[in-house]
Amino acid sequence: PFRIAVFASGSGSNFQAIADAVNAGRLAGDSVTDSPMHPRLDVRIELLVCDRPKAQVVERARQLGVPAFVFRPKDYADRETYEKEILERLQALEIDLVVMAGYMRLITNVLVEPLYGRLINIHPSLLPSFPGLDAIKQALDYGVKVTGVTVHYVDGGMDTGPIIAQRSVEITPQDTEESLAARIHEIEHVLLPQVIERIARGQVQLQGNITITS
Ligand code: GAR
Repeated sequence: PFRIAVFASGSGSNFQAIADAVNAGRLAGDSVTDSPMHPRLDVRIELLVCDRPKAQVVERARQLGVPAFVFRPKDYADRETYEKEILERLQALEIDLVVMAGYMRLITNVLVEPLYGRLINIHPSLLPSFPGLDAIKQALDYGVKVTGVTVHYVDGGMDTGPIIAQRSVEITPQDTEESLAARIHEIEHVLLPQVIERIARGQVQLQGNITITS
Protein backbone atom coordinates (compact mmCIF):
# COMPACT_ATOMS: atom_id res chain seq x y z
CA PRO A 1 0.00 0.00 0.00
CA PHE A 2 0.85 3.66 -0.47
CA ARG A 3 0.35 5.21 2.95
CA ILE A 4 -0.61 8.83 3.41
CA ALA A 5 -1.14 11.12 6.37
CA VAL A 6 -3.23 14.28 6.13
CA PHE A 7 -2.61 17.43 8.19
CA ALA A 8 -5.62 19.73 8.59
CA SER A 9 -6.89 22.44 10.93
CA GLY A 10 -10.43 23.27 9.86
CA SER A 11 -13.47 21.95 8.06
CA GLY A 12 -11.56 19.23 6.27
CA SER A 13 -13.43 19.28 2.98
CA ASN A 14 -10.17 18.40 1.22
CA PHE A 15 -9.54 15.57 3.67
CA GLN A 16 -13.05 14.35 2.84
CA ALA A 17 -12.36 14.57 -0.91
CA ILE A 18 -9.23 12.43 -0.53
CA ALA A 19 -11.09 9.89 1.62
CA ASP A 20 -13.99 9.77 -0.88
CA ALA A 21 -11.56 9.15 -3.73
CA VAL A 22 -9.86 6.37 -1.77
CA ASN A 23 -13.15 4.77 -0.77
CA ALA A 24 -14.52 4.93 -4.30
CA GLY A 25 -11.54 2.88 -5.43
CA ARG A 26 -10.19 5.77 -7.44
CA LEU A 27 -7.97 8.69 -6.74
CA ALA A 28 -8.65 10.87 -9.72
CA GLY A 29 -11.52 12.91 -11.04
CA ASP A 30 -11.81 10.44 -13.90
CA SER A 31 -12.31 6.79 -13.07
CA VAL A 32 -9.19 4.69 -13.36
CA THR A 33 -9.64 1.05 -14.22
CA ASP A 34 -7.37 -1.85 -13.42
CA SER A 35 -5.27 -2.31 -16.54
CA PRO A 36 -1.57 -2.93 -17.20
CA MET A 37 -1.10 0.78 -17.92
CA HIS A 38 -3.20 1.82 -14.93
CA PRO A 39 -2.93 -0.80 -12.19
CA ARG A 40 -5.30 -0.15 -9.34
CA LEU A 41 -3.70 1.84 -6.57
CA ASP A 42 -3.86 0.82 -2.94
CA VAL A 43 -3.72 4.23 -1.25
CA ARG A 44 -4.56 4.30 2.45
CA ILE A 45 -5.13 7.26 4.74
CA GLU A 46 -3.33 6.06 7.85
CA LEU A 47 -3.49 9.19 9.99
CA LEU A 48 -5.07 12.61 10.41
CA VAL A 49 -2.96 15.19 12.23
CA CYS A 50 -4.96 18.12 13.59
CA ASP A 51 -3.92 21.01 15.81
CA ARG A 52 -7.49 22.04 16.75
CA PRO A 53 -9.51 19.57 18.81
CA LYS A 54 -12.80 21.24 17.87
CA ALA A 55 -12.20 21.27 14.12
CA GLN A 56 -14.82 19.63 11.94
CA VAL A 57 -12.12 17.51 10.31
CA VAL A 58 -11.73 15.58 13.58
CA GLU A 59 -15.36 14.49 13.38
CA ARG A 60 -14.95 13.56 9.71
CA ALA A 61 -11.99 11.32 10.59
CA ARG A 62 -13.99 9.66 13.36
CA GLN A 63 -16.86 8.91 10.99
CA LEU A 64 -14.48 7.55 8.38
CA GLY A 65 -12.59 5.44 10.91
CA VAL A 66 -9.31 7.22 10.20
CA PRO A 67 -7.00 7.32 13.26
CA ALA A 68 -6.24 10.86 14.38
CA PHE A 69 -3.49 12.57 16.31
CA VAL A 70 -5.21 15.66 17.70
CA PHE A 71 -3.21 18.03 19.86
CA ARG A 72 -3.21 21.53 21.25
CA PRO A 73 0.01 23.42 20.51
CA LYS A 74 -0.22 25.22 23.84
CA ASP A 75 0.16 21.90 25.67
CA TYR A 76 3.74 21.69 24.35
CA ALA A 77 6.83 23.72 25.19
CA ASP A 78 7.39 24.67 21.55
CA ARG A 79 6.68 23.71 17.95
CA GLU A 80 9.72 21.47 17.72
CA THR A 81 8.46 19.32 20.60
CA TYR A 82 5.08 18.46 19.07
CA GLU A 83 6.58 18.12 15.62
CA LYS A 84 8.99 15.48 16.99
CA GLU A 85 6.01 13.58 18.29
CA ILE A 86 4.26 13.88 14.91
CA LEU A 87 7.40 12.70 13.11
CA GLU A 88 7.65 9.64 15.34
CA ARG A 89 4.07 8.71 14.54
CA LEU A 90 4.62 9.18 10.82
CA GLN A 91 7.72 7.00 10.94
CA ALA A 92 6.00 4.30 13.00
CA LEU A 93 3.24 4.12 10.37
CA GLU A 94 5.75 4.12 7.47
CA ILE A 95 3.99 7.05 5.82
CA ASP A 96 4.92 7.54 2.15
CA LEU A 97 3.33 10.97 1.67
CA VAL A 98 2.16 13.75 3.97
CA VAL A 99 -0.60 15.99 2.57
CA MET A 100 -1.15 19.38 4.16
CA ALA A 101 -4.81 20.17 3.38
CA GLY A 102 -5.69 23.35 5.22
CA TYR A 103 -3.10 22.92 7.97
CA MET A 104 -2.78 26.48 9.16
CA ARG A 105 0.66 26.36 10.76
CA LEU A 106 4.15 26.87 9.51
CA ILE A 107 6.24 23.79 10.09
CA THR A 108 9.89 23.67 11.12
CA ASN A 109 12.88 21.69 9.94
CA VAL A 110 11.96 18.94 12.40
CA LEU A 111 9.39 17.87 9.79
CA VAL A 112 10.63 19.54 6.60
CA GLU A 113 14.10 17.99 6.49
CA PRO A 114 13.23 14.31 6.97
CA LEU A 115 10.10 14.59 4.82
CA TYR A 116 11.37 16.75 1.96
CA GLY A 117 9.97 15.41 -1.32
CA ARG A 118 7.27 13.47 0.55
CA LEU A 119 5.40 16.48 1.91
CA ILE A 120 2.90 18.47 -0.17
CA ASN A 121 0.55 21.40 0.49
CA ILE A 122 -2.54 22.77 -1.24
CA HIS A 123 -2.93 26.54 -1.37
CA PRO A 124 -5.89 28.59 -2.69
CA SER A 125 -4.03 30.90 -5.08
CA LEU A 126 -1.71 30.74 -8.06
CA LEU A 127 1.58 30.79 -6.18
CA PRO A 128 3.87 32.67 -5.93
CA SER A 129 1.00 35.19 -5.78
CA PHE A 130 -0.82 35.57 -2.47
CA PRO A 131 0.99 33.24 -0.07
CA GLY A 132 -0.02 33.03 3.58
CA LEU A 133 -3.38 33.49 5.23
CA ASP A 134 -6.60 34.59 3.47
CA ALA A 135 -5.25 33.99 -0.03
CA ILE A 136 -8.76 34.17 -1.53
CA LYS A 137 -9.46 37.56 0.07
CA GLN A 138 -5.99 38.77 -0.89
CA ALA A 139 -6.73 38.02 -4.56
CA LEU A 140 -10.12 39.77 -4.43
CA ASP A 141 -8.69 42.81 -2.66
CA TYR A 142 -5.84 43.07 -5.17
CA GLY A 143 -8.29 42.97 -8.06
CA VAL A 144 -6.66 40.19 -10.07
CA LYS A 145 -9.00 38.69 -12.65
CA VAL A 146 -7.59 35.19 -12.44
CA THR A 147 -6.60 33.26 -9.34
CA GLY A 148 -6.54 29.56 -8.66
CA VAL A 149 -5.16 26.61 -6.76
CA THR A 150 -1.60 25.34 -6.32
CA VAL A 151 -0.28 22.03 -5.03
CA HIS A 152 3.42 22.12 -4.17
CA TYR A 153 6.14 20.35 -2.27
CA VAL A 154 6.79 21.99 1.08
CA ASP A 155 10.14 23.51 1.92
CA GLY A 156 10.97 25.71 4.90
CA GLY A 157 9.19 28.81 3.59
CA MET A 158 5.64 30.10 3.68
CA ASP A 159 3.84 28.51 0.69
CA THR A 160 7.11 28.19 -1.22
CA GLY A 161 8.58 24.98 -2.60
CA PRO A 162 8.49 23.28 -6.00
CA ILE A 163 5.08 23.53 -7.70
CA ILE A 164 3.47 20.24 -8.78
CA ALA A 165 0.16 21.40 -10.29
CA GLN A 166 -1.96 24.52 -10.69
CA ARG A 167 -5.49 25.28 -11.89
CA SER A 168 -6.82 28.72 -12.69
CA VAL A 169 -10.14 30.18 -11.58
CA GLU A 170 -11.58 33.36 -13.10
CA ILE A 171 -12.84 36.12 -10.83
CA THR A 172 -16.03 37.84 -11.94
CA PRO A 173 -17.21 41.33 -10.89
CA GLN A 174 -20.05 39.69 -8.94
CA ASP A 175 -17.75 37.51 -6.86
CA THR A 176 -17.74 37.66 -3.08
CA GLU A 177 -15.26 35.88 -0.88
CA GLU A 178 -17.87 33.14 -0.37
CA SER A 179 -18.69 32.59 -4.04
CA LEU A 180 -15.04 32.57 -5.07
CA ALA A 181 -14.09 30.25 -2.21
CA ALA A 182 -16.82 27.83 -3.28
CA ARG A 183 -15.43 27.60 -6.85
CA ILE A 184 -11.88 27.28 -5.56
CA HIS A 185 -12.83 24.48 -3.18
CA GLU A 186 -14.57 22.56 -5.98
CA ILE A 187 -11.35 22.65 -7.99
CA GLU A 188 -9.25 21.70 -4.97
CA HIS A 189 -11.37 18.61 -4.35
CA VAL A 190 -10.58 17.33 -7.84
CA LEU A 191 -6.97 18.46 -8.09
CA LEU A 192 -5.64 17.18 -4.77
CA PRO A 193 -6.71 13.54 -5.27
CA GLN A 194 -5.30 13.72 -8.83
CA VAL A 195 -1.92 14.89 -7.60
CA ILE A 196 -1.84 12.22 -4.91
CA GLU A 197 -2.61 9.62 -7.57
CA ARG A 198 0.24 10.81 -9.78
CA ILE A 199 2.70 10.81 -6.89
CA ALA A 200 1.56 7.34 -5.81
CA ARG A 201 2.13 6.13 -9.38
CA GLY A 202 5.65 7.57 -9.33
CA GLN A 203 4.81 10.05 -12.08
CA VAL A 204 6.07 13.19 -10.33
CA GLN A 205 9.80 13.85 -10.42
CA LEU A 206 11.52 16.52 -8.31
CA GLN A 207 14.45 18.13 -10.11
CA GLY A 208 15.91 20.88 -7.98
CA ASN A 209 13.36 23.67 -7.74
CA ILE A 210 10.98 22.31 -10.31
CA THR A 211 8.92 19.18 -10.79
CA ILE A 212 8.16 17.18 -13.90
CA THR A 213 4.99 15.12 -14.16
CA SER A 214 4.94 12.38 -16.78
C1 GAR B 1 -8.30 25.10 1.52
O1 GAR B 1 -8.90 26.02 0.66
C2 GAR B 1 -6.80 25.19 1.41
O2 GAR B 1 -6.35 25.50 0.11
C3 GAR B 1 -6.49 26.29 2.37
O3 GAR B 1 -7.34 26.06 3.46
C4 GAR B 1 -8.56 25.49 2.98
C5 GAR B 1 -8.93 24.31 3.84
O4 GAR B 1 -10.24 23.89 3.57
N1 GAR B 1 -5.11 26.31 2.77
C6 GAR B 1 -4.42 27.42 3.03
O5 GAR B 1 -4.90 28.53 2.99
C7 GAR B 1 -2.96 27.19 3.40
N2 GAR B 1 -2.23 28.44 3.44
P1 GAR B 1 -10.77 22.50 4.10
O6 GAR B 1 -10.45 22.42 5.59
O7 GAR B 1 -12.24 22.50 3.85
O8 GAR B 1 -10.06 21.40 3.33
